[in-house]
Amino acid sequence: MKIMVVGGGGREHAIIKKLKENKDITKIYALPGNGGMKDDAECVNIGAKDIPAIVDFAKANGIDFAVVAPDDPLVLGCVDALEEIGVPCFGPNKAAAIIEGSKVFSKNLMKKYGIPTAAYEVFSDVDSALKYLETAPIPTVIKADGLALGKGVIIAMTREEAVAAVKSMMEDKVFGDSGSNVVVEEFLTGPEVSVLSFTDGKTVVPMISSMDHKRALDNDEGLNTGGMGTIAPNPYYTEDIAKVCMETIFIPTVDAMNKEGRTFKGCLYFGLMLTPNGPKVIEYNCRFGDPETQVVLPLLKTDLLTVMQAVRNETLADINVEFKDMAACCVVMASKGYPGKYETGFEIKVAPDIDAEVYVAGAKCDGDKVLTAGGRVLGVVAVADDLVSAVDKAYKEVPNVTFDNAYYRSDIGQKAIKALG
Ligand code: AMP
Ligand code: GLY
Repeated sequence: MKIMVVGGGGREHAIIKKLKENKDITKIYALPGNGGMKDDAECVNIGAKDIPAIVDFAKANGIDFAVVAPDDPLVLGCVDALEEIGVPCFGPNKAAAIIEGSKVFSKNLMKKYGIPTAAYEVFSDVDSALKYLETAPIPTVIKADGLALGKGVIIAMTREEAVAAVKSMMEDKVFGDSGSNVVVEEFLTGPEVSVLSFTDGKTVVPMISSMDHKRALDNDEGLNTGGMGTIAPNPYYTEDIAKVCMETIFIPTVDAMNKEGRTFKGCLYFGLMLTPNGPKVIEYNCRFGDPETQVVLPLLKTDLLTVMQAVRNETLADINVEFKDMAACCVVMASKGYPGKYETGFEIKVAPDIDAEVYVAGAKCDGDKVLTAGGRVLGVVAVADDLVSAVDKAYKEVPNVTFDNAYYRSDIGQKAIKALG
């Protein structure tokens, strides 16, 4: 079988490596992929948002199955376009991807169907938003409606910060049209959990839970990033909480999307906060998380292509999706300066005897060499019997990957280990 994976980051590298375990797969293309995955897939220089070129490539190369991984192509309708020419896909269609594409949509969906989330107001003009902020409880959270490269959320600790956030989104348009509408929502507290799930619109199968580490520096200091590391499973996510989430969040969300005529098929990501008043949805993503995927998929026992095909064919109830009773830790190695300005072009060297997976996010080839080409460069992922061992092993292997100007957090997993007691 010939498979095509749309996207080019560490998440896609983890998906590709997992797919490769299936011996029926003879060829994997990555569009565009990156130089760090050249041993695992053939990288094709087509951007993930260039839907006409993606469709042409699939047609010309007899693609049997496509995985569309990033938010942009999903929201733009890449799956609709590929299915229309007869290429079966894993990923939601455009109508369903709106669950991530519009925060106004997702907040209204949760309100309509009684799914627990932060209280909120939606504004489409700046004056009403500013008027509301005069008396809104502080801290408050300001969210741009549309996709904003993961940066469209501002936690305002003062009224002045809230006003500045609304003005930057609605007047200065720092996120373009994504900020034409804003959501102002209640500030919640509690441990955060990411739960990725497979769903075909009928059945929902949560994957092993995980925890992201979004801030750039140790102790959750520094700027927000795309994610500096992850662990799985997340110790805060107990069996009791999982049961509550299934009943009050996962099934109701899948049902709500069906009732709206927007059946969701693919990976539905629940970003949850375990508040003193129970688990609440912070955000939905219409795709695998990055870098959550890098710790979740290595723990998947069942063949990934089989699961993806069952999702596509709406037969998920017929298969048993199993995870290993183990733990994983991903330490992201980034370029010094990220998420601000950083230099690239440094050679990445991986020791041949490294005892960890390396999923590459930002790299390019230069002859035989692989050079850094992004802010988040790669993730070093270790799997072990328990969380403490997985974290130890990941940090033991990190020095086996080197490039100039590398930096990484030294405390990935520590909060989770403390929670274990
Ligand atoms: P997002 O970009 O939607 O993942 O949000 C980024 C981060 O902002 C989340 O991981 C939370 O830590 C935080 N956040 C989002 N919404 C809220 C909220 N209502 N209350 C407190 N923190 C929030
Ligand atoms: N790790 C969060 C995300 O993928 O959006």
